Amino acid sequence: MITMLARILAVCAILQIAIAQNSDPLDDVLTNNAAYFTTNFGQPVFSENRSLTVGPRGPVLLEDYEIQEKLFSLNRERIPERVVHARGTAAKGYFEVTDDITNLTYASIFSSIGKQTPVIVRFSIVSVSTGGPEWIRDPRGFAVKFYAGSPQGGPTQGCIWDLVGNNLPVFFIRDGAQFADLIHAAKPSPVNSLSPGWRFADFLSWHPESMNVVSYLFDDVGIPADYRHINGSSVHTYSLISGSGKVTFVKFHWLPTLGEKSLLDQDIPSLVSKFPNGDFATTQRAFCGVIGEFGWVAQIWPEDQFPMKRVGKLTLNQNIANYFNEAEQLAFSPSHILPGIGFTDDKLLQWRLVSYDDTQRYRIGPNFRFVEVNRPRCPVHSSAQNGPLNIANQTGEINYFPSQFSNQEPVAQFPYDNSTVGPGLRVRTIINKTDDFAQAGDRYRSFDSARKARFVTRIGGMLSDPMNAGGITSRWMSYLQQMDSSLPNQVQNAINTAKAAMGSSAIAGGG
Ligand SMILES: *[C@@H]1O[C@H](CO)[C@@H](O)[C@H](O)[C@H]1NC(C)=O
Ligand SMILES: *[C@@H]1O[C@H](CO)[C@@H](O)[C@H](O)[C@H]1NC(C)=O
Ligand SMILES: *[C@@H]1O[C@H](CO)[C@@H](O)[C@H](O)[C@H]1NC(C)=O
Ligand SMILES: *[C@@H]1O[C@H](CO)[C@@H](O)[C@H](O)[C@H]1NC(C)=O
Ligand SMILES: *[C@@H]1O[C@H](CO)[C@@H](O)[C@H](O)[C@H]1NC(C)=O
Ligand SMILES: *[C@@H]1O[C@H](CO)[C@@H](O)[C@H](O)[C@H]1NC(C)=O
Repeated sequence: MITMLARILAVCAILQIAIAQNSDPLDDVLTNNAAYFTTNFGQPVFSENRSLTVGPRGPVLLEDYEIQEKLFSLNRERIPERVVHARGTAAKGYFEVTDDITNLTYASIFSSIGKQTPVIVRFSIVSVSTGGPEWIRDPRGFAVKFYAGSPQGGPTQGCIWDLVGNNLPVFFIRDGAQFADLIHAAKPSPVNSLSPGWRFADFLSWHPESMNVVSYLFDDVGIPADYRHINGSSVHTYSLISGSGKVTFVKFHWLPTLGEKSLLDQDIPSLVSKFPNGDFATTQRAFCGVIGEFGWVAQIWPEDQFPMKRVGKLTLNQNIANYFNEAEQLAFSPSHILPGIGFTDDKLLQWRLVSYDDTQRYRIGPNFRFVEVNRPRCPVHSSAQNGPLNIANQTGEINYFPSQFSNQEPVAQFPYDNSTVGPGLRVRTIINKTDDFAQAGDRYRSFDSARKARFVTRIGGMLSDPMNAGGITSRWMSYLQQMDSSLPNQVQNAINTAKAAMGSSAIAGGG
């Protein structure tokens, strides 16, 4: 661990030298380091707490620039929160290779056993806003940014790899065409901003393929105890590409050294206190030391037919120092990969590839790559220039390609996924994979009887809202029947019990 801290510090030192060389005055702005108060532009201020007025009781003068600037800066402190995964936190550490997969990929971070790569990980909750509670039944985000590049690394070392996953290994829908609908259904009502469970139940009732993730979400693991005890999964299948261009499908998993831990329903803080009190939030964030170990890679879903293979170990040993800079402005995109890693035809992944950078350009701005935590740690030469808050010191006249005045060339082609696709017609069609219930049913049958009963109670609680009468409930019953034929009766009993107990104010479940 001492070696690793030294390594992280070494990386920081390189970056600081880079800033100092280029821009001393900028450094002052960035670090806010004057010993006295100033305006944003460094004018000294002696009146942080006194407006400039006409006489001691008179109106404020417009020329009171100092206080204006204070207020106007306050008004601009927020950037748009993420629509999904708004609430979260981050921690830093490193990834270390423990097993050899160099015959599957030439990706630089896997090049040798013992190789370490600095990372930052953002954990989050999907559907609540930034100030919302962290203990609701909802998937958790588990996004890892690997800083694979270095100033000296050659082109095929790559630069940033964002492995943007969740704690649950499967998802609600198969086609990104429905992602906006899923999120609208999971988010609060547009009428009153409340979150009745029936909206989500309604949406899922049209999606038999969601029953697999339901078998996780309504199970105990649907409310993790904290971020130290959750699995992570790439959710999607990716490809690994070998030096000879051979493609292997993989799914990545993170398994916590400390094991999984959930909150049972009775442990959940009272719904009256919707906003987390300081203690609870602090507990969740105060992690340091090892929280995760063992990344595994399995070839293609379903996992039970493809045993996991250990690849490496993730160690998180450093908390972030500034939430806004290192968690709110921390920006991921599954499109950021390394040579030796590729995508797959997963229609949800394909939309995520374009959607994430779009989100960050909107939230942070087109130059979000200049925020320290997002900065590539490798040389960059793209055609991007200018734009708001561009702090690059771009020099020279040749900002186009090709040019006889520039010797910058595209790199030599490296192996990529050049496998055949098609030929195909242009189609908009459903994914005709029909095995929606087998894994969900197997998972349910693997629970002990108390765990089965909790699962049934939660679904019954959700469906007990009268809004689910008719179609929504009958569609759920048909899916539950196909998961396990014992489920519809049990869920119906749970609905009756919930109705008797609390009338129509069903609160269990929901997104
Ligand atoms: C930008 O780069 C040029 C050429 O290397 C250098 O002369 C100049 O000082 C740099 N400017 C800043 C603000 O770093
Ligand atoms: C304003 O700040 C000064 C210190 O700069 C302090 O002496 C004074 O009591 C403060 N006044 C008020 C109203 O807070
Ligand atoms: C990679 O090597 C392992 C043994 O080290 C072997 O089991 C596996 O089949 C190899 N995979 C490929 C794609 O060659
Ligand atoms: C976490 O991983 C373990 C080991 O693969 C598995 O048994 C467990 O079901 C996983 N939990 C979730 C929530 O996926
Ligand atoms: C795909 O790439 C590999 C090497 O990366 C190469 O050997 C092979 O010829 C390529 N296939 C096609 C169809 O271009
Ligand atoms: C699904 O689509 C593929 C390709 O279009 C086709 O070959 C297959 O028969 C279809 N399967 C089902 C169950 O419809």
